[in-house]
Amino acid sequence: MNTREMFAKAIKGGYAIPAFNFNNMEQLQAIIKASAETKSPVILQVSKGARNYANQTLLRYMAQGAVEYAKELGWEKPQIVLHLDHGDSFELCKSCVDFGFSSVMIDASHLPYEENIALTKKVVDYAHQFDVTVEAELGVLAGVEDEVSSAVSHYTKPEEVVDFATRTGCDSLAISIGTSHGAYKFTPEQCTRDPKTGKLVPPPLAFDVLDAIMEQLPGFPIVLHGSSSVPQEYVDIINENGGKLPDAVGIPEEQLRKASKSAVCKINIDSDSRLAFTAAVRKVLTDKPGEFDPRKYCGVARDWMEDLYKHKIVNVLGSDGKA
Ligand code: G3H
Ligand code: 13P
Ligand code: ZN
Repeated sequence: MNTREMFAKAIKGGYAIPAFNFNNMEQLQAIIKASAETKSPVILQVSKGARNYANQTLLRYMAQGAVEYAKELGWEKPQIVLHLDHGDSFELCKSCVDFGFSSVMIDASHLPYEENIALTKKVVDYAHQFDVTVEAELGVLAGVEDEVSSAVSHYTKPEEVVDFATRTGCDSLAISIGTSHGAYKFTPEQCTRDPKTGKLVPPPLAFDVLDAIMEQLPGFPIVLHGSSSVPQEYVDIINENGGKLPDAVGIPEEQLRKASKSAVCKINIDSDSRLAFTAAVRKVLTDKPGEFDPRKYCGVARDWMEDLYKHKIVNVLGSDGKA
């Protein structure tokens, strides 16, 4: 399904839909199990990097298989969206639309304003012919990932959003209010330090900017990227088992909980799943150095990711029981 009705219900109901990235079978299994058991609508996201890593044909049929798997788990009418994350060109978005995705993102936020509008509108005009919904982005998030990078963030300008949404016809808008991609969302200089634990305490999100955007575009679906909270228990396990992630820091979950109750109806989480996976694999291989069957450590990683996804659904986004 596309995101239209899903987002309308989420805004009305004061919760957000989880958008989880997947690159492999274990992540997909964990996402589907967590969503089926909690009866949460879910967005399966595929980045350009995921397409390059796993092959787009395979990913597409994995997603199709996931719908059947969800039914097998007792979820009679699974509400699942297959979404392109951070599409960077018309050609990539078109290829995903043609390939059966139900939603695409065109991320032209790095381009000058008029070029962002022109490219977004081109994607919207194409995608809407096939009832595929389109997410666009205005404002720039800081952070570095394989396919997404910027050294500094620029908050979305509330005075631009009506013009942008009207002229592009986009179905949802990703905004910049202080979230960022990856496991290092803030530099130590941007944070304070908890005197007891020595851990970094990040600065708050710009809820005033979100409020101003919602005032301009009442009821319009807003998306938050870069919303991993970088759970310190995973970071500690990774660091205690040969890893090196000093001062990794994310978005506190209570801020995401607050955002979920507003017009923010899609929250993107990828890095937390990577951390859960890596923590599990490192721990199993440290505890059992003789292990060489990937099912033994990928299986544990899958369980840890499933717990993480359930936690996000139930305790952070509030989307359980909504599908
Ligand atoms: O926002 C970016 C996602 O976390 C995807 O990252 O491009 O490394 O697959 P990726
Ligand atoms: P995180 O890196 O915070 O998980 O963000 C993921 C994301 O925004 C995917 O588009
Ligand atoms: Zn993103």
